[in-house]
Amino acid sequence: MNIVLLGAPGAGKGTQAQRLVAEFGVAHISTGDLLRAAVKGGTELGVQAKKYMDAGELVPDQLVIDLVKERLAEDDAQNGFMLDGFPRNTVQAVTLDTELAALGRELDCALLVDVPFEVIVERLSGRRTCRDCGHTGTAADATCPTCGGEMYQRDDDKPETIQNRLDVYEKSTSPLVEYYRGQGILKSVDGNRDVEVVYADVKKALGL
Ligand code: AP5
Repeated sequence: MNIVLLGAPGAGKGTQAQRLVAEFGVAHISTGDLLRAAVKGGTELGVQAKKYMDAGELVPDQLVIDLVKERLAEDDAQNGFMLDGFPRNTVQAVTLDTELAALGRELDCALLVDVPFEVIVERLSGRRTCRDCGHTGTAADATCPTCGGEMYQRDDDKPETIQNRLDVYEKSTSPLVEYYRGQGILKSVDGNRDVEVVYADVKKALGL
């Protein structure tokens, strides 16, 4: 199954993706994670991307598109993938459709995790991420529940950046809801409930 996860920053896309990976082993392609790895590794891409990420702006399309194309060509993505954080605007969505068509592939579902903005601000302020394995948790996690690593607060989860990320989502990414509705592949779950309740709905929406 080829899936796009849609939703505002902090809607819980990564949290739901972690569960789908654990249960079904589907290839999880998170552009945010790939970009953060590039920043951590000090690559040229990472150096270029960092200033946009720290400001809560989108990294230039071509950099992200190249990254996704490379990742989609890897072995584990051949039997299905779950894109998380990509596409982020219409240019990326159209490019993805074109690239997949050229490979004789297509998207099966765009799944929107829907959460009101006021809930999101609270979630992002409290989010903590594992420095070692990338696990997503909250300020209540003293150490990573998955690997015991150090939990830290992402630079873009600081209050001054969160609002800009929400503005960018509203302007650039939210039009994709209509884009995929128009293709007849949009599904939506109410993400403002307990994580496990949301997960049950995610599986139902995906027919899993
Ligand atoms: P990215 O890493 O993709 O960030 P995002 O889309 O802003 O999404 P998040 O990771 O912040 O949120 P999420 O929905 O995964 O929520 P999570 O599960 O963590 O992108 C970062 C940056 O990279 C961008 O700003 C941009 O600069 C760049 N970038 C990435 N992709 C790009 C692209 N395609 N083009 C251009 N630039 C790009 O949950 C959040 C918190 O809520 C956690 O603490 C979690 O524990 C908690 N939580 C989750 N679900 C629930 C629930 N049901 N109830 C209570 N708490 C919950």
